Amino acid sequence: MGADLSVTFTGLRFQNPFLLSSAPPTESESNIMRAFDAGWGGVVTKTIGLHPVTNVAGPKTKFLRTDPVTTRMSMQKRPGTALHSSWNWELISDKTIDWWLPRIARVKQAHPDRILVASIMAGSGSDKELRHWQDLAAGCQDAGADAFELNLSCPHMDRQDMGSNVGKDAGLISVVTKVVKEVAKVPVWCKLTPSTTDIAAEARASFAAGADAIVSSNTFPSLPPIDPATLEFEVNVDGYVSSGGLGGPAILPLSLAKMSQMTQAFPDKSFSGIGGITDFSEALSFFLLGCGTIQVCTAAMLDHAIGPNVIKALNQGLAEFLEANAERGWTSVEDFRGLRRDRVVTHSKIRRPEGKEYFGGQDAPEGYADVEASLSATRSVTRSS
Ligand SMILES: Cc1cc2nc3c(=O)[nH]c(=O)nc-3n(C[C@H](O)[C@H](O)[C@H](O)COP(=O)(O)O)c2cc1C
Repeated sequence: MGADLSVTFTGLRFQNPFLLSSAPPTESESNIMRAFDAGWGGVVTKTIGLHPVTNVAGPKTKFLRTDPVTTRMSMQKRPGTALHSSWNWELISDKTIDWWLPRIARVKQAHPDRILVASIMAGSGSDKELRHWQDLAAGCQDAGADAFELNLSCPHMDRQDMGSNVGKDAGLISVVTKVVKEVAKVPVWCKLTPSTTDIAAEARASFAAGADAIVSSNTFPSLPPIDPATLEFEVNVDGYVSSGGLGGPAILPLSLAKMSQMTQAFPDKSFSGIGGITDFSEALSFFLLGCGTIQVCTAAMLDHAIGPNVIKALNQGLAEFLEANAERGWTSVEDFRGLRRDRVVTHSKIRRPEGKEYFGGQDAPEGYADVEASLSATRSVTRSS
């Protein structure tokens, strides 16, 4: 009997916990159909909005590679280099909601047992904009979407009331999530920006407003490197560049840190982990921190656009991991989810070499500040009196 890879996440049953994240791999009906045929448990559509979208007049995504000898990082194609990251300044889907709705319906008819999450985005600066969230949500759920992912994290929006600018503002997160929850008949996931100081604060606002799950990370704000020969940014239009988003292997440790802040603060809530995942070992790190599902973008883009080999390796890796740990009684992701969540502690809780003490960067406590010494002094006074 094969291993049971299925998971239940925000009340939805997934054949396996691996989803294509909202990005080019999920920008069309044919890609999504191919993704399901390849074995992905779910997809999150490329973000759908109501405002007109026009992308830059040049490449929207490029890949950074490092040279193993010099470690130089560049987008130029060089033999023997390894993938470092993706860099993109692509906007949300340039297709209209009317284009998307019949396609969502057709995908769900063809694959009723797979999970299709509609990523949606609108503004938040007026009642009219907030109604756009509700219109998007109502349309997508009527077409058959199984859940919503609210894009509160796109890093390249000029508008102050959209994308990661919403994700940086607990008040706006709350307003937008509540507005969608008012009309939603399916689970609502909030995809938060990683570019805040303490992402647990934004997670708190999302959950308080009724979010069923948090998704993280979107790409990290960044610039492409400057070519030393031409002195031009490696991606530019007419010499100009704007802040874009970094994804892929480089962001795995950063994304794990963000995820850990949230899963520790909300151990009983649902989280979907993204950031630099290519194979099962990386997905496992997110599961061990407490994530119930995993999403992939960059690795899939580089593997026949929708990641047929990536999903095969993820499913196989999970099956082999369950088999290798069968003697522990593990039969599903639930059995090891969150197992290392509490291993992230403050620095002073980390053991020092024998005999060496550390007081969190402060001077050693003396007198009344030495709590242990004053307690034992009090105890001996009490005993002798
Ligand atoms: C070209 C490109 C386009 C993207 N578009 C979206 C989008 O429309 N909505 C969204 O929520 N995230 C978008 N993302 C972010 C990805 O879904 C994902 O969060 C990010 O790339 C990190 O995952 P990775 O390390 O597997 O690439 C995009 C990423 C890339 C590279």
